[in-house]
Amino acid sequence: MKTYNIAVLAGDGIGPEVMAEAIKVLDACAERFEFAFNYRHAFVGGAAIDTVGEALPPSTLACCEQSDAILFGSVGGPAWTHLPPDQQPERAALLKLRQHFDLFCNLRPAKFYQGFNHLSPLRSDICAKGMDILCLRELTSGIYFGAKERTATAASDTQTYQRDEIRRIAIKAFQAAQARRQKVTSIDKANVMASGILWREVVNEIAQDFPDISVEHMYVDNAAMQLIRDPSQFDVMLCDNLFGDILSDELAAISGSMGLLPSASINSQGFGLYEPAGGSAPDIAGLSIANPMAQILSAALMLRHSFAEEAAASAIENAVAACLQTHCVTRDLDPNQTVSTAQVGDTIAQMITEEVAAWA
Ligand code: NAD
Ligand code: IPM
Ligand code: MN
Repeated sequence: MKTYNIAVLAGDGIGPEVMAEAIKVLDACAERFEFAFNYRHAFVGGAAIDTVGEALPPSTLACCEQSDAILFGSVGGPAWTHLPPDQQPERAALLKLRQHFDLFCNLRPAKFYQGFNHLSPLRSDICAKGMDILCLRELTSGIYFGAKERTATAASDTQTYQRDEIRRIAIKAFQAAQARRQKVTSIDKANVMASGILWREVVNEIAQDFPDISVEHMYVDNAAMQLIRDPSQFDVMLCDNLFGDILSDELAAISGSMGLLPSASINSQGFGLYEPAGGSAPDIAGLSIANPMAQILSAALMLRHSFAEEAAASAIENAVAACLQTHCVTRDLDPNQTVSTAQVGDTIAQMITEEVAAWA
């Protein structure tokens, strides 16, 4: 039987709660689709600092290196913000992993689920036009990884983009659009930033090789506005590291909740780290009310992008849609609900086992 080795890094806050549900769902997939998972649990983030003194212990990194994919929960929280910045969980663990494995291509797919437009804070006539957006975010360069300086009176962060760094993420965006609705909207701030001018130039060069794809350039401030005015106008959004971070949270809110948005971070060899786009949610950690869907949908992205198990990936996505349709949702999606994190995971796993089809 085919066996996949997965480094499971649950991390902090709601990470372990939602990870437990993703594992349940993966187990249901393994049984139905006849493959096996070998889960290798390892400490990461604040949990690793508290147990072994550093956010990404060498044993955890080795575990990731020896696995076929990384399933990541979330890291960080108020308990670790007093540490020097480069020792904090977000930078020392998550950014380090992204850099170490060169996970430059970050996919964040956001959509409305049929019958669930009312979850969106947007007006119903806007929702009625639909939303199905793939946010492609450059993940290993830009202002996140540029030189940083701090003196007593000033601080600076530097944004640098190399042509090749823009090229490789732009190519991914155009390729993704070919399999979707043939439109790329490239987001930049070329009216102010030198790196934005280069970004636009390189995207236009790549566009020459994809005559079937329409390309539009949009300043990021306008994009933030257009997204809430009419999200149906977007297909693939191509963003740098920082703009993609910000706009993807907006996408999550538009679709209904931070707990719905999955994320895949992939390198040029197809190795990937899969995690919810949201964080450790310290405000709800330990209450069993976190929405596990983003973690579960991230596991589906892992099956699709790292293991080419398309049928199992679609089964998870269908089961999540079916679960939403039966109104088995945590309170981020409906404040009147008392459904727990585990009940949502149980329902999705059961729907996979019983081969329940979603209506949409
Ligand atoms: P957050 O995404 O953790 O939380 C923002 C809001 O969304 C909170 O109200 C939270 O309750 C809600 N939320 C998020 N996920 C949810 C879910 N699954 N179900 C229901 N509600 C959910 O963002 P934040 O508060 O800015 O950050 C908290 C910590 O997480 C910080 O330390 C931050 O650096 C870290 N963080 C980590 C990751 C990661 O590990 N991938 C991502 C983002 C933030
Ligand atoms: C995300 C997160 C991370 C980011 C943080 C935790 C470093 O917000 O994955 O969106 O900014 O990339
Ligand atoms: Mn973010």
